[in-house]
Amino acid sequence: MKTQVIYHSLSGCTEKLARGIFEGLKCEEKSLHNLADGTPEIDGDVILLGYWVDQAGPCKPIRELAETLENRHVGLFCTMAFWCESSHAATALHNGAACVQEKNTVIGGIVVNGHMSDKMIEMFRGMGAGPHSASPAAEARWALMKDHPSECEIALATERMNERIQLLKTLQEKGIAFPSITI
Ligand SMILES: Cc1cc2nc3c(=O)[nH]c(=O)nc-3n(C[C@H](O)[C@H](O)[C@H](O)COP(=O)(O)O)c2cc1C
Repeated sequence: MKTQVIYHSLSGCTEKLARGIFEGLKCEEKSLHNLADGTPEIDGDVILLGYWVDQAGPCKPIRELAETLENRHVGLFCTMAFWCESSHAATALHNGAACVQEKNTVIGGIVVNGHMSDKMIEMFRGMGAGPHSASPAAEARWALMKDHPSECEIALATERMNERIQLLKTLQEKGIAFPSITI
């Protein structure tokens, strides 16, 4: 069973997570693809898609790829700058799953925190008053997240993907289909 980890990253958070997951994957056959280097041939039984959250959904390159996938087992992982346990985070994962779940089987997903890039922070600091403008609370959150995703977050994401792939193998050996997870 081959697993392909495919990701897109602007400022490195999703790349760090994707590399960590890839290194920890207990699969006989696996490959890692950065979409910035081009779209890979899709030949994996399991496709792990990694995106940075853009307006509560997958970044465009991953969204466009996700919408072409058919008959695959798909795991989703993403990084975002807002709180990863918020309803906004749940929506960001849901919107990723929505791109694939009609034609594929979703085997799992996870949202972890990334940091806000310096470029985005500068942009927010330059904005007038509004929901996204810089504030003391936002500045404190950006500072708190500056080293995310953390090693713990990467380990948890890796564990989740390994567990789901193992479950898929176990079910396949018994001739049972993986019940797609509605996210
Ligand atoms: C155009 C743009 C839109 C973004 N939209 C969101 C968003 O809706 N919610 C959020 O929490 N973070 C948002 N972010 C922050 C990124 O998702 C976050 O910093 C992510 O960890 C960056 O990952 P990367 O380093 O792999 O590019 C946005 C960033 C950019 C550049």
